[in-house]
Amino acid sequence: MDLELKNKVVVVTGGAKGIGEGIALAFAEEGALVAALDRDEPTLRRLAHRAVAEGWSLTGFPLDLRDESAVSAAFGEIERRFGGIDILVNNAGGNDAVGLHHSPAEFVASLERNLVHYFTCAHFALPALKKSRGAIVNISSKTALTGQGGTSGYAAAKGAINGLTREWAADLAQHGIRVNCVLPAEVITPMYEQWLAKAPDPAAARRQLDLTIPLGRRTTTIREVADLVVFVASSRASHLTGQILCVDGGYIHLDRALTAPVTHLKKSE
Ligand SMILES: NC(=O)c1ccc[n+]([C@@H]2O[C@H](COP(=O)([O-])OP(=O)(O)OC[C@H]3O[C@@H](n4cnc5c(N)ncnc54)[C@H](O)[C@@H]3O)[C@@H](O)[C@H]2O)c1
Repeated sequence: MDLELKNKVVVVTGGAKGIGEGIALAFAEEGALVAALDRDEPTLRRLAHRAVAEGWSLTGFPLDLRDESAVSAAFGEIERRFGGIDILVNNAGGNDAVGLHHSPAEFVASLERNLVHYFTCAHFALPALKKSRGAIVNISSKTALTGQGGTSGYAAAKGAINGLTREWAADLAQHGIRVNCVLPAEVITPMYEQWLAKAPDPAAARRQLDLTIPLGRRTTTIREVADLVVFVASSRASHLTGQILCVDGGYIHLDRALTAPVTHLKKSE
């Protein structure tokens, strides 16, 4: 299937590492002109070199997404350099475990890290997206749908991202702009590795994690998330809008009995 992404201009936030890196490379591989926005400048530089070596187009824009004027300048520069914007992937964020015992100021800071820049980027990309009749893909999280505990800020941000997906899809349908959301649950990325490393026995924690996922008893790969994002953003998904798509091996929606220990299943047979 030709995804018709050649020379399309794609902006990916948090594009240096993890899921964002996978998304940026998957678009570049399809011939898109990728702009990766991330605060990790050395990693962005290495990623751009890697893409160039493959004959792909990937340009790094080092910035902190919480800095509105830096984001505004980057979108201006992307439009000038590439002649427009076709696709925005809002991806940057991370589970910062800001729970109820944290202060209200820390809760607001978590929203700044995980939510506000999704709006900022959509706001600054909008004039170009109207011209291209483009698409937005927001990356959410299982915490938008399932309580996790101890992470009020991140859960509130991800719930809001689901809400904004439908709000923007409604707002922008008149301009031919599609807005969808891809929602992963368990994907091994630098963020996840840091979290696992804190467990008393990281290898056991990893095995336990795999067992919680019905399809294949394994975590979702970065590539599996990236491939869905690329398809959803492409014109081959031309009548898809306002959708929240869970790429999670059935983690969120399938019956808990599927991941119950085998001994328990035998007893109840
Ligand atoms: N890994 C998972 O299992 C998982 C599950 C559900 C949802 N998600 C979501 O996927 C997205 C990516 O997560 P990941 O696991 O790849 O994280 P990651 O920490 O591995 O990578 C995130 C990238 O975003 C960049 N970034 C973060 N905040 C930034 C800011 N303010 N300014 C500029 N750059 C910034 C980081 O430098 C990093 O390169 C996040 O929105 C996360 O909530 C991940």
